[in-house]
Amino acid sequence: GDNVMYLAHRYDIEVEGACEASLACCTCHVYVDESFYDKLPEPKEEEEDMLDLAPVLKPNSRLSCQII
Ligand code: FES
Repeated sequence: GDNVMYLAHRYDIEVEGACEASLACCTCHVYVDESFYDKLPEPKEEEEDMLDLAPVLKPNSRLSCQII
């Protein structure tokens, strides 16, 4: 699928994605630019749970594989 994680990979931007977008890791953690954050659909509960495990969580943190 064309989530942000795969797009990053395509453009050689360094984002990991250990679980291949199955919401079983937090290695695809990114900070979303403030001006885009509010335009995204809310993260679902599974994403929130994984984000809680991410290092240095910020208010604009998301898992890039869940941004479509
Ligand atoms: Fe594991 Fe995104 S790649 S949750």
